[in-house]
Amino acid sequence: MKFFIDTANLAHIKEAQDLGVLDGVTTNPSLMAKEGISGKDNVLRHYKAICDLVEGDVSAEVIATDYEGMIREGEELAELDDKIVVKIPMIKDGIKALKYFSNRGIKTNCTLVFSAGQALLAAKAGATYVSPFIGRLDDISFDGMDLIDQIRVIYDNYEFDTQILAASVRHPIHIIKCAEIGADVMTGPLSAMLALLKHPLTDSGLATFLADHAKSNQ
Ligand code: E4P
Repeated sequence: MKFFIDTANLAHIKEAQDLGVLDGVTTNPSLMAKEGISGKDNVLRHYKAICDLVEGDVSAEVIATDYEGMIREGEELAELDDKIVVKIPMIKDGIKALKYFSNRGIKTNCTLVFSAGQALLAAKAGATYVSPFIGRLDDISFDGMDLIDQIRVIYDNYEFDTQILAASVRHPIHIIKCAEIGADVMTGPLSAMLALLKHPLTDSGLATFLADHAKSNQ
């Protein structure tokens, strides 16, 4: 399973990259706003800075919601760097835009996916990635993991190439469940990734090893 970090924070991206387990980055307009990035030039510069930091795919979301606008913005984003994946919302014009980019070999990420039907449409339009939002489903008392399961079955039934990018990951259990089901990618905050490291028996075991070593090497 690939690990993407879901942030526009350069320090977090660098920390995950330095860990050696990072495969890419996803962003969205809210995450860009959180970092205070505004204005077209600054936004494009920031995406380029992210691309320069990492080795894998970098999802950059269009703001337009009409077909022509999405094509215009998406092409501009894709020209920035080969790592750019054009992120497109799951709306009617978005499906058409996915098809347009897929026909031209430009990578896409279909975002704001909350149902199996939406995921099926995204795959048929040739999306590179589909982003079902697990955490936001959990927030409204639907099990986000059931959706990952359903999409896995559908994509395997028809051998779709679209990769399941489990998004809106909030904690390490989400990551582990996604890995069990067979999501291709997960994207989450640095905190969820680092939480995978933690186990109290690792901490106490290491403390004992070091204490025993110190005793016998006085
Ligand atoms: C997906 O690409 C989105 O950026 C993201 O995962 C949304 O997560 P949130 O529900 O924690 O905002």
